[in-house]
Amino acid sequence: MDSLFRGTLWTLLILFTLPHLTCNMLCTGSCLCGFNGAVKCVGNTITDIPQNLPIHTYLLQLNDTDMNVINERSLAERNLLLRFSLTHSHLHAIHPNAFQVAPQLRSIKLSSNDLSTVPAKVFSPLVTLEQLHLDENQLETITPDMFEGLVSLLVLDLSQNKLTSPVSDVFDGLTNLTFLNLGRNSINKLPPTIFHSLTNLRNLMIYNNQLEVLEAGIFDKLGNLLELKIHHNQITSLPPHVFWSLKNLMILTLSSNRLQAIPEKTFYNMPKLTKLTIYNNPLLSLPDQLMGHMPDMTEFYLFSTNLTTVPGNLFANMSGLLRLNFHLNDKLRELPSDLFCCLPKLDKLSLKSNDLLYLHPNLFSGLTTLGILLLNDNKLKSLPDNIFQGLGGVLTVDLRRNHLETLSGDTFFSNSVLKGLALGGNPWDCTCSIRGIAKWIRQHKHDVLDRQDVICHSPVYQQLRTVGSLQDEEFNFCDAKKLKSTSTTTLPTTTLMTTHGITQQDTILSTTPTARPATFPTTVLPTTLQTPTTNEPNEEFLPTTENPSSHYILPNFYGTLVIEQGPEFVHHNLYKGWVYVWFLPSDAGLTGLLMFCYILLVAAGLVLIFAAVFCMYRLNKSMDELKAEWAHPPE
Ligand SMILES: *[C@@H]1O[C@H](CO)[C@@H](O)[C@H](O)[C@H]1NC(C)=O
Ligand SMILES: *[C@@H]1O[C@H](CO)[C@@H](O)[C@H](O)[C@H]1NC(C)=O
Ligand SMILES: *[C@@H]1O[C@H](CO)[C@@H](O)[C@H](O)[C@H]1NC(C)=O
Ligand SMILES: *[C@@H]1O[C@H](CO)[C@@H](O)[C@H](O)[C@H]1NC(C)=O
Repeated sequence: MDSLFRGTLWTLLILFTLPHLTCNMLCTGSCLCGFNGAVKCVGNTITDIPQNLPIHTYLLQLNDTDMNVINERSLAERNLLLRFSLTHSHLHAIHPNAFQVAPQLRSIKLSSNDLSTVPAKVFSPLVTLEQLHLDENQLETITPDMFEGLVSLLVLDLSQNKLTSPVSDVFDGLTNLTFLNLGRNSINKLPPTIFHSLTNLRNLMIYNNQLEVLEAGIFDKLGNLLELKIHHNQITSLPPHVFWSLKNLMILTLSSNRLQAIPEKTFYNMPKLTKLTIYNNPLLSLPDQLMGHMPDMTEFYLFSTNLTTVPGNLFANMSGLLRLNFHLNDKLRELPSDLFCCLPKLDKLSLKSNDLLYLHPNLFSGLTTLGILLLNDNKLKSLPDNIFQGLGGVLTVDLRRNHLETLSGDTFFSNSVLKGLALGGNPWDCTCSIRGIAKWIRQHKHDVLDRQDVICHSPVYQQLRTVGSLQDEEFNFCDAKKLKSTSTTTLPTTTLMTTHGITQQDTILSTTPTARPATFPTTVLPTTLQTPTTNEPNEEFLPTTENPSSHYILPNFYGTLVIEQGPEFVHHNLYKGWVYVWFLPSDAGLTGLLMFCYILLVAAGLVLIFAAVFCMYRLNKSMDELKAEWAHPPE
């Protein structure tokens, strides 16, 4: 009974591990063979594709090898290989017939090699090829016959080569292409019709090149495009309506070019836009109508421009904006009063490090949801009394390093949840007019994060005192002064005696206020206010760039398993991360027989299990009966 049970278990074990055992066999020294038919080979002992690899290898990755040439026979007799990658191997030549022996390939990756050219028609047998990566090579020119026959190609990566001016019909046959990367080349010219066959294109990368002009109509056939990256070129002007066909566009990067102006209505007809970058261009002005409806835009950056002001409705169509970083424009002097009129969801507004002199009293009145407001490092001399009145939810206001001399005591009256105010680095004038805000600071000690740096700059006898240390009684003379309205030169002697060890004589003998350099001690602020004034994250590090959203899913080169069906004989079955590879002969009769045997075996196993269970049950019952008989022997 017991041996029968054990026998059943063994049968089942063998049945289920058999496919694994066959998979793990026959792997050469420099290669790692996975159960799932993926083989990885590394090392400079490899000079050609290793011979005795498992027959069912579907993915072969060679990296850092000495295989400099792909020969006519390199890929021969590997009819199950679908994805082939040879990288970091100084590959410099491909035999013109190298792929004729492997027409079944779906992916080819030859990145990071020394290819300076590719033979004409070398890929033309590959009618099912989906991915072709030739990035990081030395290609200087590409010609239409290089890609001839690639009717199924979806992904073409030509980035990091030395391309300068691709000809207009080079991509003509690639009508199914969805992803094209031409980034990081030296392209200085693109013909106006070069992309016109690529009507299925989703992602187009032309960043980090030397383009100076965009031809009118160049994107006209790309109605399915989701992402267009043209940042880091030398573009000086845009033709009118150049993006108007891109009705599905979600990402458009134009930053780090040489644009001084942008034509009217350039960003109209792009209702799905979620990301638009135009920063780091020497923009001098923007037209009155620029942005069409783009309600899905949540974050917008506009910095490092030469703008002195902007149209009042610039952001009016970006109704979904959560964060607006409109900063580091060192010529930006003035903002229209209605600029932030229509941003009902805005949470963060950064206007730091501009050149602002003055703010309109109603500038922030519509920003009821604002949490963070950065105004530091401008040239503000004063603020309108009610400027923050509408900001009921504001937590942080940074006013450091402006030219503020005083503020009204009621400035922050409406900001009941304000927790992080920074006022340091301003030339506070501690005369009568400071009384109100000094009182407010005393009452909200914990909300003024840098109160040790909020220091009197004038008059001379108050220098180096913190505004928060000024007591209300010290200003009693102001009331009297108001009443009498006489000469302002009478100094209250009591105040002089209380200043921090600085006597009247000392102070008066020291430098005059105008000669005194405006240096202020700076203490470390909590991280919420530690906002660097320079080093804006570059294109790669902007948060929205880093996080590739769902539409930017480039099919991973290694990820997709191809499930073959039909009369062919590979059957891949993906289950819980394991891939079982079965081989069935193409002869239908034999296949049927084998399947029948397999089912018979499994069925036999199951029958044996049930038999074993039933026997155990019977045995148990007999034992119980025996025990009962022993306990009560029959009379
Ligand atoms: C391939 O080899 C290069 C050079 O040794 C190495 O930098 C790279 O990380 C390797 N790539 C993979 C995928 O193993
Ligand atoms: C191109 O794509 C379409 C649909 O996306 C498909 O029906 C067609 O077969 C593809 N063409 C080739 C040659 O694979
Ligand atoms: C907002 O977009 C609409 C439609 O795209 C346009 O008619 C309108 O002029 C735009 N408003 C501004 C201020 O540009
Ligand atoms: C923009 O400003 C920079 C720095 O102030 C200056 O060098 C450059 O000439 C300006 N460009 C234009 C077009 O005015």
